[in-house]
Formats: sequence, structure tokens, C-alpha cells
Amino acid sequence: MPQIPAPKTYRVKSFGCQMNVYDGDRMAELLAEQGLSAAAEGDEADLVVLNTCHIREKAAEKVYSDIGRLRREDGTSPLIAVAGCVAQAEGEEIMARAPSVRMVVGPQAYHRLPAMLAEAAAGQRVTDTDMPAETKFAALPPRGQGDRRVGPTAFLTVQEGCDKFCTYCVVPYTRGAEVSRPFADLIDEAHRLVDAGAREITLLGQNVNAWAGEDGKGRAIGLDGLIRELAALPALARIRYTTSHPNDMAEGLIAAHGEIAKLMPFLHLPVQAGSDRVLKAMNRSHTVASYLAILDRVRAARPDIALSGDFIVGFPGETEAEFAETLALVDAVGYAQCFSFKYSPRPGTPAATMAGQIAPEVMDERLQRLQAALNRDQLAFNRASLGRTCEVLVERKGKHPGQWLGKSPWLQSVHFAGEAAIGEMVRVELAEAGPNSLHARLVENVALA
Ligand code: 5AD
Ligand code: SF4
Repeated sequence: MPQIPAPKTYRVKSFGCQMNVYDGDRMAELLAEQGLSAAAEGDEADLVVLNTCHIREKAAEKVYSDIGRLRREDGTSPLIAVAGCVAQAEGEEIMARAPSVRMVVGPQAYHRLPAMLAEAAAGQRVTDTDMPAETKFAALPPRGQGDRRVGPTAFLTVQEGCDKFCTYCVVPYTRGAEVSRPFADLIDEAHRLVDAGAREITLLGQNVNAWAGEDGKGRAIGLDGLIRELAALPALARIRYTTSHPNDMAEGLIAAHGEIAKLMPFLHLPVQAGSDRVLKAMNRSHTVASYLAILDRVRAARPDIALSGDFIVGFPGETEAEFAETLALVDAVGYAQCFSFKYSPRPGTPAATMAGQIAPEVMDERLQRLQAALNRDQLAFNRASLGRTCEVLVERKGKHPGQWLGKSPWLQSVHFAGEAAIGEMVRVELAEAGPNSLHARLVENVALA
């Protein structure tokens, strides 16, 4: 490959989880620091970063179709970099299958993008899927540099990786072992985000509630200690965190839900299945009863908490009776919103070679029944909120003139009309409920610090 002109514009396309969105933002900031500018909407970018997800099959297949779609009529392509978890898991295969891909970079190595870019511009194809001991975070430009603004809601990755090894999951292989970022770095990044305009911060981690560190005085703290410290930032109005593992749901964190007003009443606590036999085969190391006991304690600390979870249907060996236990669990909890998936065998994971793989049509049918139950409960939760007065952080303009969109404390999408601006907090009365959003009446604008 001959030398190629250095790219001037970039586009980062992130798939999958919120941690990928965070990584995508940080890659964009890194490229901006290198002098590249974001390609305008509708324009082709000189450099396209596909920030991929490997959690389920469809997500990986999407990458190849996206690469194909970037091809121009004359057969050439912009400079393509594949980042994220597919890059980590299938880097070599991508290089072999997709000649137009010039760079493959894993989720722990993207701070090296500038150097890779120089090599790619010199005509080489480069792969970096190292999981170096030194963290990428130290090598990235700080958030909110110069006059760079962020939106009212921002993500902050506090923890990465997973040591739990659920038998269906690729995360321990693609993201590596559990690592907590240091307290001081997180406080610094939170300050920068707030200074750049963030009013709500969502703390992210594959096992965010496994975060552990030392506070400014050298005391060992958990996620609740970090949240407490962040709650002291006057201009920060709201704190959320996701995703949690039941086994790391410490008493201090549960208590924090009743004690810290800025910690929003929402908990995403995946359970995956409602049968103890399936949970054991999944290596979840909790039971249905221990999971429900955690929810009871959380509800005791914060009675209005909105609960969310993840479910997998059709795990190898799942019987109809075991699936019925999942439906019974859903009925027992009354979730506010959930994610649910068909089991997808991931190469290299123990479950992929287990006996009793379930036929696709059985999985389809189970997923439909589960989603019908979850949708019913979501609508019921939204309807039960009607008449409530609550605060909404305005995130963007709605489709209609004068309409605004934001989130309730319970993470419901809320739209309303009236005088407001992005980044403002308003008090509204929830007036009409649909399955996916609520309509509200503006009561008043709330002053923020
Ligand atoms: N197949 C289907 N769903 C999966 N998840 C993780 N791995 C798989 C898989 N192999 C789901 C789990 C997890 C969420 C992020 O994705 O529900 O909580
Ligand atoms: Fe995957 Fe289980 Fe770790 Fe979640 S806890 S990332 S599902 S291995």
C-alpha cells in the first residue's frame, strides 16, 4: 500500500454498551488533539473508527456490513480503524477478511491511536490488542480541554473488566481483569466534566459496584464512598452508576441509596435467569433468593427505586419449566425497564460447547413471551408515576417546536413543552404515560448551583 494522505477529518461510530460510548468519546478527543476535526453530518470522514461490540453475534456481524458500506463506488474506502471488543477478540480475522481495514485497536490500547495513525499513513496495516499494565487513561488528553464542552449528561468509566467469568460471556476475555481507576483521577475527571457543562454523571464499569480505592486520606472505600465524594461537587446535580453485579452489592452502597439525595433512584442489577439450576450453569454465583433479598434491602433503603435488569433466554439446557421461573421472577420484581437477549454462543466461552443448545425458534418464542411481560411491567411502572411531580434534567430539544426531552430521576424519558434550555433542571408533573416515554407539564424551572 502506498503512502496515504494524513486524514483531516474523523468519525467515531460506537456500538454496544455505554462503556464503548465513553471510549468513543475519548478516542474522538484524542483525534481532535492530533489536529483532526469531526466530519460534518452527511460528509464522508477521512478516518472512520468503528468502535465495536462483541457481546452477541449480531453485534460482530454488523462490523463487517459497516465496513462494506464504507466502500466507495470506485472500490476504495476511507481509512478504517476497527476498535472495541471485536477488534480485541477477532483482530487477526478482521485483518484477513477485510483488506480495507488499516488499523485494529483493542479497548485497552486506543491511547496509541496517534502512533498507529502515523504507521497507517505510511502504508502499513497495524494491530494493537495489547492489554498493557500501564493504563490508557493516563495517556489520554484530559476531558473538557480548552473550550471543549460536554452535554448535561456525561459518562465516567471508573472500573473496567470482569473477574466473574459467567460461562456465556466474552467480557473477561475482551476487557480483561477487573481494574479500578484511582480515586484522585476520577475526582479530577469529574471536576473537568462538571466545569465543561455536565450536570449528571453516570459512573460506568462492567462491574461498577466492584470499584474499590482509597480516598484522599488513604482510607479504603467502595463505590458508595466515591459517590459520596462526588455528591459534594456543588454543580453536579445527579449521579447514576451502571452495571452492577449482585455479589458486589455492598451494604454501604445499598444504604447510600437512602442517604445521598443526588444518587438517583434507579438500579440496574442484571439477574439473567430465574432458575437456580440455570444460574449455576451460568456461574452467576447468586441464587434467585439471594438476588431478591438484595432487592428487598434496596427497596427498604429507597422505597421508590426503579429496578432494571438483563435477561438471557435459551441458555444451553434451559427447559420450558426453567424459563417459566424467569417469567415468575419478572412478575415478582415488577421491573421499570429491562434488557433481554437470546443466548448467543461466544467462541471460547464454556457455554458455547455445552450440551443442550436451544433451537433458534424456541429462543425466539421465549424472548417474545419475556418481552411481552417486561413491556407490560414497564408501562405499568410509567402509569404508576402519573400525577407525580419530579425533576427532569433537560437533555435535548424534542421533535416538535418548543418541546424538550430529558430524564426523570427513575430514568424515564420525559417530554414537555415550555420555556427551558438544554442543561436546565425543571420540575414537571407527569401527565401521560406511554410504554417508552412520558408526557409532562412544566411546573417551574429549578435553579442549579
Ligand atoms: N448471549 C446473550 N446475551 C449475553 N449477554 C452477555 N453475554 C451474552 C451472550 N453470550 C447479555 C447479558 C449481559 C448483557 C450486557 O448482555 O445479559 O448482562
Ligand atoms: Fe460478563 Fe458475567 Fe462479567 Fe457481566 S458479570 S461482564 S455477564 S462475565
